[in-house]
Amino acid sequence: MKPYSYRIEGGKPLKGDVNISGSKNAVLGVLAASMMIDGECTLENVPDISDVHVMIDLCRLLGARIDVSTAPEGSLVLKIDPRSINTYKATGRAVSKIRASYYLLGALLGRCGKASLSMPGGCNFGQRPIDLHLKAFKAMGASGASPEDVVGGIITLTADPLRGAKVFFDIASVGATINVMLAATKAQGNTTIINAAKEPHIVDVANFLNAMGARIKGAGTDTIKIKGVPVLPGNFSYSIIPDQIEAGTYMIAAAVTGGDVTIHNMIPTHMEPLSTKMREMGYLIEEGDDTIRVARYENTKITGTNIKTSPYPGFPTDLQPQAVVLLCMSKGISKMHENVWQNRFQYIPELTKMGASINIFDRIALIEGIETFKGASVNATDLRAGAALVCAALAANGWTYINHAEKIDRGYENIVQKLNSLGASICRTEDENGFEQDMEA
Ligand code: EPZ
Repeated sequence: MKPYSYRIEGGKPLKGDVNISGSKNAVLGVLAASMMIDGECTLENVPDISDVHVMIDLCRLLGARIDVSTAPEGSLVLKIDPRSINTYKATGRAVSKIRASYYLLGALLGRCGKASLSMPGGCNFGQRPIDLHLKAFKAMGASGASPEDVVGGIITLTADPLRGAKVFFDIASVGATINVMLAATKAQGNTTIINAAKEPHIVDVANFLNAMGARIKGAGTDTIKIKGVPVLPGNFSYSIIPDQIEAGTYMIAAAVTGGDVTIHNMIPTHMEPLSTKMREMGYLIEEGDDTIRVARYENTKITGTNIKTSPYPGFPTDLQPQAVVLLCMSKGISKMHENVWQNRFQYIPELTKMGASINIFDRIALIEGIETFKGASVNATDLRAGAALVCAALAANGWTYINHAEKIDRGYENIVQKLNSLGASICRTEDENGFEQDMEA
């Protein structure tokens, strides 16, 4: 895809209402799960984002039929029939475009007893091993799951038969939990996952699998039990949950611009780690059944705080860069401790170009509050880093050009339209480094 930029004129408080789209990280697992159905299903509230289109292409390459249409409010509706799948190999170049392609390992093992996959891609924040996935598949009877079995960047697993097993994770991994739930759904016998991840998208994938005919209990707790079933009849409709991280990004964008925004179609309890921190900092956070309003009290000082990312229900790492922008716009010194990923501060030099004052000590960023950001030409180093730069640019004095904005569109449906409807001034431009060009003109 040709790179493009976002041009943002900052300093406009966001005001009004915005709707949250379906969860990226849920739908990617759900799409892989749907490849195991012995029938059809319809998926609703699917976000129209590039990662979803990559996953649809990967499923179609396997032979699955997927009809895509658009609902009146802009989300996608997918009619899926995987009965025409004619291969267990997902080895095309598209596999390396997203991380979630690795869910096809679990789904194809479940469907075909065999799975071949090129090494998955995704955002680069240090090492992203898949040893926990492979160890679990090995415990379930798959051969080919040792590191030395990876040939030419391709993993091929064979299970004859695929058996239920007791799986213990040293780390509560989102991807490994979903992958094992997928394979275990079709395995012979029972599987127990101990120290499972508990993120909202784990629960959504489990609910979808159960709607398919799977027998999964305990999703959302740290022990998940799965009874393998031979047939998954399908023929149902399912609506994807709202995106926790998109909702959090709009909460932060509203806050840093001094705006007053009500965010709709979201699940307020998923936002508690962020809402609690924002209240502590001095923001007004008003919860409804499926809404949150973010605003400032008059004449209240916004103070800094300390945040540590950790698996759900802790503070989500996928809101870490956006939260650093929030901390920059507060009084005093704040601390952000990145506890999930080895190297998720790659965007900080870009924020520094916009006037941020941040020092990094290994996995801790010390943030000194500033009055505001200033416009600059910056690069989105990954998806959430790009979202953080958008938040900073909306608050900044002057114009910001965010290059490689296509990374942002991996995970945010209609971000330009949604922000402009709140009073922002943001547009897409094909010029990379447009900032320098405009400055010369
Ligand atoms: C998922 O990635 C999300 N991606 C990520 O969101 C998110 O940052 C992450 O979970 C944590 O919440 C998708 O859902 C597609 P993990 P995943 O396995 O599954 C270590 C975004 O911005 N680990 O929970 O790859 C790993 O190195 C993206 O939307 C192992 O050591 O994350 C990390 O330190 C970016 N061995 C920790 O566990 C393994 O086999 C958590 O990773 C697997 C993971």
